[in-house]
Amino acid sequence: MTDAPYSVAFDRASVHFSGSDAPALERLSLHVEPGELLAIVGASGSGKSTLLRCVNRLVELSDGCVAIDGRDVRTFELGPLRQSIGYAIQGVGLFAHLTVAENLALVPETLGWTRERTNARIDELLAAVRLDPPTYRSRRPRELSGGQSQRVGIARALVAHPRLLLLDEPFGAVDPILRPHLQSELLAVLREARTTTLFVTHDVDEALLLGNRIAVMRDGRLQAIGSPRALLEAPPDAFTAELLCGDELLHRYRRARLDEREGRR
Ligand SMILES: Nc1ncnc2c1ncn2[C@@H]1O[C@H](COP(=O)(O)OP(=O)(O)OP(=O)(O)O)[C@@H](O)[C@H]1O
Ligand SMILES: [Mg+2]
Repeated sequence: MTDAPYSVAFDRASVHFSGSDAPALERLSLHVEPGELLAIVGASGSGKSTLLRCVNRLVELSDGCVAIDGRDVRTFELGPLRQSIGYAIQGVGLFAHLTVAENLALVPETLGWTRERTNARIDELLAAVRLDPPTYRSRRPRELSGGQSQRVGIARALVAHPRLLLLDEPFGAVDPILRPHLQSELLAVLREARTTTLFVTHDVDEALLLGNRIAVMRDGRLQAIGSPRALLEAPPDAFTAELLCGDELLHRYRRARLDEREGRR
């Protein structure tokens, strides 16, 4: 198996959950390049989590296609598909009866890594998400705060050098002081690994900071997609303008931050 990052393509993908009239995803088409970080924003219920879950087949499409490296996800075996994709979910989803280290070791063990390699990787990632390895390795999820659990969730998604990362509001419970540190740690890890990433967030500033491009979701549809600069400078519609730009002062602040970010690069 090579570890080149995956591309992801949605082609008129639709999801209709039984019992609900409106589709959760409606004819969504978009292409994510290998190594790209696509930030996904939009109101609650607009289909962001559903979009991610179609990729690792936690949700099956009603219509259309999702392909990884040009291959329909339905043609992969589920186990290997999910092992090659790192996934951190809104509700964290750590196994309560396992320690932090045991939670992180699950996929490496399946892949047959040596204990030394697994332990070294676990310590590296715990440090990257600012959890002191000796302190946190043997804790159980109930002994962690919400934000600490989320950070373990991010470490777990990254542990086996995935070819694709699906991150669903990974910093939602992390306090505003630590958040910028984790954002830059995550960026550094992703840049080094060049992992293709779909990153759902409610935080527009986070999307502008992290995304190579931003996708705006509305009622299960892709409302807009483009680079942070393109969307900030010329939002294609009023909804996108209101969501991304805010009032005049905020708009100016965000463009200045973007200048700063791009100047730093
Ligand atoms: N398993 C399910 N069964 C039925 N309806 C569902 C299911 N999962 C999601 N939905 C519905 O699909 C729509 C999209 O949900 P989704 O979780 O993708 O939204 P979201 O954009 O991630 O929202 P949030 O920002 O609140 O996390 C919502 O109307 C939701 O109620
Ligand atoms: Mg969601």
